[in-house]
Amino acid sequence: MKITVCIGSSCHVKGSKSVVDTFKKLIEENNIADKVELGGTFCLGNCRDGVCLDIDGKIFSVTPQSAEEFFISEVLSKAI
Ligand code: FES
Repeated sequence: MKITVCIGSSCHVKGSKSVVDTFKKLIEENNIADKVELGGTFCLGNCRDGVCLDIDGKIFSVTPQSAEEFFISEVLSKAI
């Protein structure tokens, strides 16, 4: 599974760094670094709904507040 978080300026302002940090922490805690690849990208063209991210070609939007819940439902449940 490949997660690419937008670090374009609009998403950066909305907290993409914090989303990336949350994901990194959860990947480590759950020991799934071998199953989930985390990367960054510039603008995904969906700035209004940032923080945007792409999981295997599908676009989602999260906030720093919803990042953990999102990770559990969209990533963890599918990665293990
Ligand atoms: S800056 Fe993230 S979608 Fe444009």
